[in-house]
Amino acid sequence: MDSFDDFDPFTPEVIADPYPSYQRLAKSGPVNWLPMRDMWIVTGYDSVTEVLREPTVFSSAKGYAALAAGALNRDGTSARSVFDVDVASLSMLISTDPPNHTRIRRLLSRTFTPRAVGALEPRLREVCAGLVNEAVERASGAEADLVQDLSITFPVTVIAEMLDIPLSRRDEFRSWSDAMSGVLSGDATLEEAEVAGAEIFMFMSEMIALRRAKPGDDLLSKMVIGNPEGDPDSLTTDDMVLIGILLLIAGNETTTNLISNMAAALAAHPDQAARVWADPGLLPAVIEETLRWDSPVQGMLRGAMVDTRIGDVEIPAKSIVMTCLAAANRDPAHYPAAEQFDIDRKVNDHLAFGNGIHFCLGASVARLEARMVFETLIEAGVGLTPLEGATRTSNFMLRGFSRLPVIYSRLASA
Ligand code: HEM
Repeated sequence: MDSFDDFDPFTPEVIADPYPSYQRLAKSGPVNWLPMRDMWIVTGYDSVTEVLREPTVFSSAKGYAALAAGALNRDGTSARSVFDVDVASLSMLISTDPPNHTRIRRLLSRTFTPRAVGALEPRLREVCAGLVNEAVERASGAEADLVQDLSITFPVTVIAEMLDIPLSRRDEFRSWSDAMSGVLSGDATLEEAEVAGAEIFMFMSEMIALRRAKPGDDLLSKMVIGNPEGDPDSLTTDDMVLIGILLLIAGNETTTNLISNMAAALAAHPDQAARVWADPGLLPAVIEETLRWDSPVQGMLRGAMVDTRIGDVEIPAKSIVMTCLAAANRDPAHYPAAEQFDIDRKVNDHLAFGNGIHFCLGASVARLEARMVFETLIEAGVGLTPLEGATRTSNFMLRGFSRLPVIYSRLASA
């Protein structure tokens, strides 16, 4: 194993383009020790899968507590020193372990069904067409920013529609979500995230109380109806508030980044973009290849509950382990010519949505949203001409763009 004594993956230089670093790590083996961070980093496809499929050995509760305590912050907090930090307000689905996770996920799956997602399609199509039209009219041939116009606006509108929460508070959701995800990278302080957390908790408690009084047809109402108060086999009110918050946050920045990363990947590969504009039926393949090649969630943390091994590397109990999904998705042992963006690859096993018991519950919503944005542009005869000045976000965990300048060009055949 090579030594990474001087290597910190969470510096702005690495975050700007992490892929050469993943290659350097992979050359030394699928599992490496990062002394500067006091944590293990796992980059091999098989090894990442192994960790994600052992939720009782590699705890999400410990991993997310370490994240919330600043394990990835740029000040170089030691990961192991935060292993035992208890962040009580974090007991959301994503940061719970079995058996609690099993109970909540089972109960939530009653309402968050593929059918419920499919039923949203006509309304979402209408919303998306409105946003595309508005963006193209507003720009009227001049430079525009795809991130502000579509990547941010559409996902936040979709989740507001799904939960039937007032769109007038869209900017607030976005700022709560930014503060809570920003703490993962040090872009927001723990205090800012705590204030945002308290505000969003109050807001969501109010929404659940309103649905109890007068249920509608939205996801929160379905959750309330399916989980009557007093039934021991029901989600509690607190469970539902935390699920509402998780849905609001988990689907926002991630899907924003998928839409932006996809636009940027196509801009960098104009031949493939031309094929997609000629045949939107290729969009599902583009979405999967983008998720693999430039994963919106680069990695996640887990905490080792016991002395264990990953492959032939010994991992002591209380170690923090970063499972690097984005590196696994470019593992050359798993994907031939892994560094190349290739929409003909037919990839169906990338790890961008995780693996095992925490596999992303919103994967079908995210895929639907990304497809809809590009389908709507193509059907409206709008092309995207990329301009100089694309700016990456500075968050290691969530890879995307803060600015993506484009010109919306009206295509001749439209
Ligand atoms: C491109 C967009 C998205 C990406 C890349 C993504 C990625 C992920 C990943 C990697 C996980 C696993 C986390 C872990 O194992 O620690 C996850 C979990 C989750 N995601 Fe997503 N996600 C996306 C969109 C969404 C959307 C749109 C929603 C909801 C509407 C959503 C809701 C969730 C929930 C509730 C979980 C927790 C599941 C559990 O712990 O059992 N995600 N997501």
